[in-house]
Amino acid sequence: MSDAVLRAGGVDAGYGALQILFGVDLEVRQGEHVLVFGPNGAGKSTLIKALFGLVKPSAGHVTLAGRDVTGRAPEGMVAHGMAYVPQVSNVFGSMTVLENLEIGGARLSRSRREARIEEMVALFPVLGDRRKQSAGTLSGGERQMLALARALIPEPSVLLLDEPSAGVAPKIVEEIFHLVSGLRRTGVSVLMIEQNARQALPHVDRGYVLEGGAVRMTDTAASLLDNAEISKLYLGG
Ligand SMILES: Nc1ncnc2c1ncn2[C@@H]1O[C@H](COP(=O)(O)OP(=O)(O)O)[C@@H](O)[C@H]1O
Ligand SMILES: [Mg+2]
Repeated sequence: MSDAVLRAGGVDAGYGALQILFGVDLEVRQGEHVLVFGPNGAGKSTLIKALFGLVKPSAGHVTLAGRDVTGRAPEGMVAHGMAYVPQVSNVFGSMTVLENLEIGGARLSRSRREARIEEMVALFPVLGDRRKQSAGTLSGGERQMLALARALIPEPSVLLLDEPSAGVAPKIVEEIFHLVSGLRRTGVSVLMIEQNARQALPHVDRGYVLEGGAVRMTDTAASLLDNAEISKLYLGG
């Protein structure tokens, strides 16, 4: 047994006859923060969807805390401790901040839900100030914080984040990465995708380069940042 919270082994996946992922091996260890990066269209979002059960692998397996969960639907993944924040449409814009958080805790008892919402408001104070406001009026950064907070309410063991800096003003991007990095204190493991890999890598432990639906390289974040070839090919020089 390894200490991997989440593991993909030899995962093939795609859309109908269109194969996108080819034998992907990846793991996220207990408490670890991992970045997946690579060119547009590499299959990064598809990989996260295959891990979360939104796309069914046609080969290989996914294990969550040592349990084979290959082919389960997202509800099953959530029940076993996975949470997913999609790249777009990750909050309900017509509902208030508080209502969005309540949805995150829909499976919890009322007292537990209320307690978790207060913990999230302590972690993201801006949400507390805006709890009665409709989520559609939030800035890009606040919206990402709300999506993060909502996903964290059930206390997942592993959090999948698809481009948390998307739609966020450049000067707030660093704040988002810093907040995600700060989640280490809670013990949650993170698998994050980012276009903005040069800026995200210093905040994570390890990274995977995905290109053409296959893992090209994996190493510590520090080594990837130091690697001249990786830098030139995938980190914008
Ligand atoms: N629902 C879908 N149906 C068919 N093809 C898709 C679908 N979603 C994504 N693709 C294709 O899969 C490939 C990988 O997309 P994606 O996983 O979103 O890449 P990335 O997140 O790395 O930019 C792209 O060629 C994209 O056009
Ligand atoms: Mg994507």
